[in-house]
Amino acid sequence: MAEYILAIDQGTTTTRAIIIDRQGNYIGTAAQHFEQQVPQSGWVEQDPTIIWQSVCEVIQKVMNHSGLSFNQIKALGITNQRETTIVWDRKTGKPIHNAIVWSSNQSLAIIKQLENEEIETYIHEKTGLVLSPYFSASKIRWILDQHPGSQERAERGELAFGTVDSWLIWNLTNGKLHCTDHTNASRTMLFDIHTLEWDDYLLNLFNIPKNLLPKVFPSSHVYGLTDKAIFDGVAIPISGVAGNQQAALFGQLAFQPGQVKSTYGQGTFIVMNTGSEPKLSKHKLLTTIGYSIDNKITYALEGSALISGSAIDWLKDSLQLFESIEDSELLALKAEKNSGIYVVPTFRGIGAPYWDSNARGAFLGINESTSRRELVRATLESIAYQVNDIIELMESDTGISVDLLHVDGGAAQNNLLIQFQADILKKTVRRIERLETTGLGAAYLAGLAIGYWRDQSELTALVSENEQFEPHMTNKERQERLHGWHSAVKAIRYYTK
Ligand code: G3P
Repeated sequence: MAEYILAIDQGTTTTRAIIIDRQGNYIGTAAQHFEQQVPQSGWVEQDPTIIWQSVCEVIQKVMNHSGLSFNQIKALGITNQRETTIVWDRKTGKPIHNAIVWSSNQSLAIIKQLENEEIETYIHEKTGLVLSPYFSASKIRWILDQHPGSQERAERGELAFGTVDSWLIWNLTNGKLHCTDHTNASRTMLFDIHTLEWDDYLLNLFNIPKNLLPKVFPSSHVYGLTDKAIFDGVAIPISGVAGNQQAALFGQLAFQPGQVKSTYGQGTFIVMNTGSEPKLSKHKLLTTIGYSIDNKITYALEGSALISGSAIDWLKDSLQLFESIEDSELLALKAEKNSGIYVVPTFRGIGAPYWDSNARGAFLGINESTSRRELVRATLESIAYQVNDIIELMESDTGISVDLLHVDGGAAQNNLLIQFQADILKKTVRRIERLETTGLGAAYLAGLAIGYWRDQSELTALVSENEQFEPHMTNKERQERLHGWHSAVKAIRYYTK
């Protein structure tokens, strides 16, 4: 009987499941979209029970479509939206609050109170991160502050905190396991990425009791077995866990220091493998754990355009400029090519190198002949400009000159965007045919832990189709455009001040 690996990819707006075989072929995929809640401007929440239900449903769907039975699934990998914070009751398994989503700014006031150079330097050196409401620490504090008595309950060990991976492992094992992996822990702003332990000073700073926290294990590791009641009486090993951007790095097989991937989703996340030593950025890029196998850590540098696909969604849903995402490429193709219009889509703040949670977005350079076509095109271009800026910072931090960018994620289907990315970067961009590298990475990590694949070199040998985009833009045009983009970013920063 043939054997397969199942991966869950629990993203910000979509939950997916994929099944792959030993050659890395997709045997089945299923996806389900779900809604986020916006209780107030800048706040983003999700119902954790809906997240869990969506996982159960996509697994059921993918199993039905592929016609497999659960005893053909040799291992389960999990990858997830990172930083999103859930606190639940250990006895009932019920969350005490909605999940606070990574992009939410509702804990900003907690961060503001802590802004000082000494704390910021400590956080950077220990966790590789910058002081920001993006990470889990202030979100946990915010939840505990909302619910009277929860601090004491957390101290007594009655509550559990987890990012979405921990929440899913807890549910998959019917409350037996409370754990996470190094990559997810490295996004909490509470984890020392050098000693691989929770940091007492930071726990104290946020007044977070240690027994609220999950145990931390390598990304490729047998965590335990799923509860038999969940998968038709079959207990499946959970053996791969990684945050989605790190899983995409692994799924792109970017195992060598200097290799970089960019995943175009709601946000666009650029991650560079920096090898076995953490490299601290001079430009406020994040130092993070890329993946860990047998307790051997591979570090990474990360930068992101926090709002990218979600800006295209905003054009579609709020401004109603077009009906389907595919239309955005068609409209952009008909736009005036060099309209001098720039969009800075920083709806809820801007990330590296600025890290300004107050920044707001803008359209600049519009005139009476500007149509929706130009606005759509400029929004797509804004994603590529941000990726270009991050890669320049990575090159400067590491001294490595990047000659190739690996791309994936839903919005990478857009040819106009990816060609413009190559042009503005002046580098080759390689688009993997199977854009769902996130799930693939989790499946690879899970398969390695149980010996389904021998080692990483066996994975590297798996053939995968890809398409290459070469830069065509002249130097002059590139310089002019970059100048226009940087002036636009300066303008919104000035406005924010
Ligand atoms: O850090 C947030 C990131 O993990 C979200 O990814 O693809 O779910 O938007 P995505």
